[in-house]
Parts: sequence; structure tokens; C-alpha cells
Amino acid sequence: MSSLRVRAHAPGRVNLIGGHVDYAGGMVLPMAIQLGTTVVAQRGHDRVALRSVSEDEPAVLALEPVDPTTVTPRWASYVAAVLAELASREGIVGEVTTTIPIGTGLSSSAALEVAVALALLGPDAMEGLDRVRLAQQCQRAELAASGVPCGIMDQLASLCGAEGQALLLDCTTLVTRLVPVPDDVAFVVIDSGQPRTLAGSGYAQRRAEVEAAAAVLGPLPGLDVAVLDGLEDPILRRRARHVITEHRRVLQFVDALAAGDRDGAGALMRESHESLRHDHEVTTDVLDALVEDLCARPGVFGARLTGGGWGGGVIAMTEPGALQEGWTVRPSAGATVEAL
Ligand code: GLA
Repeated sequence: MSSLRVRAHAPGRVNLIGGHVDYAGGMVLPMAIQLGTTVVAQRGHDRVALRSVSEDEPAVLALEPVDPTTVTPRWASYVAAVLAELASREGIVGEVTTTIPIGTGLSSSAALEVAVALALLGPDAMEGLDRVRLAQQCQRAELAASGVPCGIMDQLASLCGAEGQALLLDCTTLVTRLVPVPDDVAFVVIDSGQPRTLAGSGYAQRRAEVEAAAAVLGPLPGLDVAVLDGLEDPILRRRARHVITEHRRVLQFVDALAAGDRDGAGALMRESHESLRHDHEVTTDVLDALVEDLCARPGVFGARLTGGGWGGGVIAMTEPGALQEGWTVRPSAGATVEAL
């Protein structure tokens, strides 16, 4: 057993556009951000014991897998789920810190999963690391811990981020393309003040509705909206329309950014929010009012819900310095682990 001290760091992510399309196999455009979660720990133990500066109770776990939903405190269930998923035979003892505001839609849980996974795997695993496979393992851990059948976006963004770049993720092939983020715009996240948790929300139901629509029409991304006539149920028609149009907006947004068309890109963000509001029905009055308010401010090109919905944060694309509040998020490198 090695007794190496390690530091693993996993960034949070913000989704610029492409909401609720990852689980439908569509395109999404997140970026890993400078806010993240860090695990500093000693490897080579026969158990996992992690303290968190933002939690009262530590996560203390034997290496034998347990049902994560039976684990307390709540945050420890994510640690237990990662441990079980990796079937790790070496534990870690150390501390977790985070700069990600919890419940704002910046993927604090994915960052915790990825940071714990990398601390367990250790620095030797970095060479030739299969980041897509690890993202899938962490996605399964999220489902096991929270019961939320999330897509792959958050974990993949945290693992594959790159300095100065957003990530165009094809959620069918899991191929990633880097998209440079122009420096004449700023991305600012504003918390709606409505704390959000996707557990117990309509997230699983939305996913089931999208899958029901796809069972009739086939994979939705890339289809023409004309095919929606083939769906009788008006709810399924709205959900499918969201996926079809949102997937297309992601590609248009990438083109607008590349062309330096800030107004065009901002308009697509606003359309994305309207689609999440009316067709996918995952926003709230508070989020809608916040987006409307932000879009009316000078120097704001567009804004939309980021994250899963039913509360949490909004992302605005602005002239640099146009907004004083919120967190200005910058595209950052993906997760790493190093020996100390
Ligand atoms: C949550 C999920 C993601 C994605 C978004 C909505 O963050 O974890 O997989 O579905 O919601 O775009």
C-alpha cells in the first residue's frame, strides 16, 4: 500500500446553452469553471474518512460497497457511491474544500464525485486516464446517491474542461470539441435565491417524457419540428419540441460565437430560456423574472437558466464588467490529481 499524499481538484461547470438535451443524446455547451472542489488526502488506508469544511459531519466509510442511500450524512452518500463504483481497494483520509456555491446549478455534486474519484485513483492513473469512462462511472454514482437519472454533461465537463474553452459535447457519441470563449464577453452566474435540489423535482419525469417521445419518433436531436405532428400527446409534443429546437440552438450559438455575433448568441440564450419555460416547463416565476430583468440591463446580451431548473442560478452573457453582482465564471482546465 502506498501512503502518498495527494491533492485532487475537480471544477464545477456552467452550461452556456443546451439545457435538458444531454439525456436525449443532443449537443450541449458547458464549460468547466474556476470554482471547484478539492480533496487533499492520504492514500493507502483501509477506509475512507473525509472531513468537509462546509459540513458538520464527516464521511466515514468502510471499503466494502454499501447502498449509498442508507449512508449519512447526506453528502457522504456521494462519496460512498463513487467508492462502490470504482470498487477501490485503497481508502483515503483527508479533507474536502469547495468554492462552488451549493444549489446554484454549478454542479457541486459532480465536482465532489470527480474529485473523490481522482483522489482514490491517485496520480498514477492520470496517464492515459479514460475521462469518458470515469465520467460515466461518476454519472452512475450520482444516480445511485441521489436517485436523479442525470445525463452525462456535468461529470464530462468537469473532467474534460480546458483553459479558455467551452466544450461542445455530443451526448450520443460522447465526442468533445473545444470551442474558444471570446474575451469580449463575460459569463456571469446569478443565484435566484431559490435553493434547488433535483431529487424530488420533475427531472426524472422530464427524462421519461423525452424518452417516451423518442420511442415514437426515434432519436430527437437533428429531427425537423414537422415530425411533432406524429405525437398525439400535447405534453410529449412540447418536450420533444424543446429537445429538437434546443439541440439546434446549441449549434447556432457555436456559430454565432465564432462569428463574433454577440447579439445573435444572446438572443439564442433568451430563446433557450423561453423553451425551457414554456415547452420543457422546468423554470419558476422567480427564474423567469430574473432572466427578464437581466436581459433589460445595458450590456447584457442574453440570459437563461443554467443547471437542472426549479430554482438555482441563471447565466448571463454580458459586456465584460456590465454586471456587478453574481459570479463571473471563466473557462478552466479539467480535473486533475497530483502528489504532494
Ligand atoms: C442537471 C443534470 C445534467 C443536465 C442538466 C440540465 O445538471 O445533472 O445531466 O441534464 O441538469 O441540462
